Amino acid sequence: MTPAPDPVTPRCAVFDVCGGCSRQDMESGAQLLEKQSLLQRHLRETAGIEPESYELLPPVTGPQWNYRRKARLAVRMVRRKGRVLVGFREKRGNYVTVMDDCEVLAPGLAELIRPLRVLLDGLAARETIPQIEVAAGEAAEHRFRPEAALVLRHLRPLDPGDLHRLTEFAVRWKLQMYLQPGGVDSVHRIYPRYGPERLYYHLPEFGLRLAFHPMDFLQVNAAVNRRAVRLVTDLLALGPEDHVLDLFCGLGNFSLPIAGRCAGVTGIEGSADLVARAEENARANGLENARFLTADLYRWNTEAPWAAQAYTRVLLDPPRSGALETVPLIAAGGARRLIYVSCNPETLARDARELARRGFHLKSAGVMDMFPHTLHIEAVALFERP
Ligand SMILES: C[S@@+](CC[C@H](N)C(=O)[O-])C[C@H]1O[C@@H](n2cnc3c(N)ncnc32)[C@H](O)[C@@H]1O
Repeated sequence: MTPAPDPVTPRCAVFDVCGGCSRQDMESGAQLLEKQSLLQRHLRETAGIEPESYELLPPVTGPQWNYRRKARLAVRMVRRKGRVLVGFREKRGNYVTVMDDCEVLAPGLAELIRPLRVLLDGLAARETIPQIEVAAGEAAEHRFRPEAALVLRHLRPLDPGDLHRLTEFAVRWKLQMYLQPGGVDSVHRIYPRYGPERLYYHLPEFGLRLAFHPMDFLQVNAAVNRRAVRLVTDLLALGPEDHVLDLFCGLGNFSLPIAGRCAGVTGIEGSADLVARAEENARANGLENARFLTADLYRWNTEAPWAAQAYTRVLLDPPRSGALETVPLIAAGGARRLIYVSCNPETLARDARELARRGFHLKSAGVMDMFPHTLHIEAVALFERP
C-alpha cells in the first residue's frame, strides 16, 4: 500500500492494527481518485482500453462511517490477557484486534462488540468459539429498532447453561441468535423460536422490501447499494419490451428493481438458497415477471433453456473471479447492451478484453465506494455493441 500523499489523522483509535480498514489515513476524495485511477489503469494495461475512449461515470458514494451491515468477527480467548477478544483480525498476523467499538460497522452491530465480549467471557465454551457473523437489517442501521442477527460458530456442543446465556443475550439486545456447530448447512436459529429466519432491507425508490437470511450474500453498504441499483437500472435504459438476463443474481437485489421496469427478467445464480430467496422476494413484492434458476455459470450448458432464449439486455455481477466463462453465452445472445458490476477491476479488465473481441465496446465506467477506507474497488461498466 502506498503512503497517503496528504495524510489525515485516522478517525479510529485502532486503525494502525485493525484489518477492518486499510485507508483511514487518506481523505475520502483522494481515496476515490485513487480507486478511479486504478480502475482506469487495469482497463488500459489489460484490455488496451484508453481512458479517453469511454466516459468516466461520477463515483457512487455514500456515508463513510457506520455503513457496514454484515461482517465476520473473529473470537479468541487470550490466556495471557485472561479474557476473550471479539473483533476484526489484525492487519498483520493472526491476532484479533482489541476493540470496544467500530467506526465502520452499522451502529446496531458496533454497539454489540463490548457486550459480546462480556457474554463470551462468561461461556463455558469460550475457548471453542472461533468466529461470529453479524448482520443487520435496515432498522438497526437507523438506530430505530435493533434488528440484527448473530451466527456463532462453535467447535464443541454447547451446554444448557451456555444456551441459556446466549438466549438471554438475544432477548436483551433484541437479536436473532443462530448457532453453527459445523459447516454452513448446520446453521440453525435458537432465538426466537418462531417466525421467519429473515432480516430485511428496502429499496424505497422501487417500493421493494427484500428479505435475506443472515448467511446470505448481501451488498454490505445499504446507501451505496441503493444508488448502485438506481445507476444500473438507469444504464440499462429499460423499456416495456425489454427482456433482461441477470447473471449472478443473488437474492434478486438488481433483478427485482429491473423487473418493475421491463417485460421480464431471468435471474441465474449458483446458490439454490439464494434462488429460493429471490423467488420468495419476487412473490412478496408481487412481481410475476421475474423467474430465477440455479446454474453454475462457470460450467453453463448451451442446452439449458434459459441460455437458448433471446434477451435484449444483460447484467453481470460476478464474484471476484469474474465472468469470462459467460462471455460466449452473452455474445451468442441478442443483447446489445450489457452492464457489468464488478468487485475486482483485474477480472473486469480481463473480461472487457474478451467482450471487445466479441464486439462489445466499453461506453462508460466508474467506481462505487461500497467499502470506504479499504483498498477494495467496486466498479460498474456499460458495454454496447452495434
Ligand atoms: C457479487 S455477488 C452478487 C449478487 C447479487 N447480484 C446482489 O447484488 O446481491 C455474486 C453472486 O455470484 C454467485 N456465484 C458465485 N459463483 C457462481 C457460479 N459459479 N455460478 C453462478 N453463481 C455464482 C454468488 O452466490 C453470489 O450470489
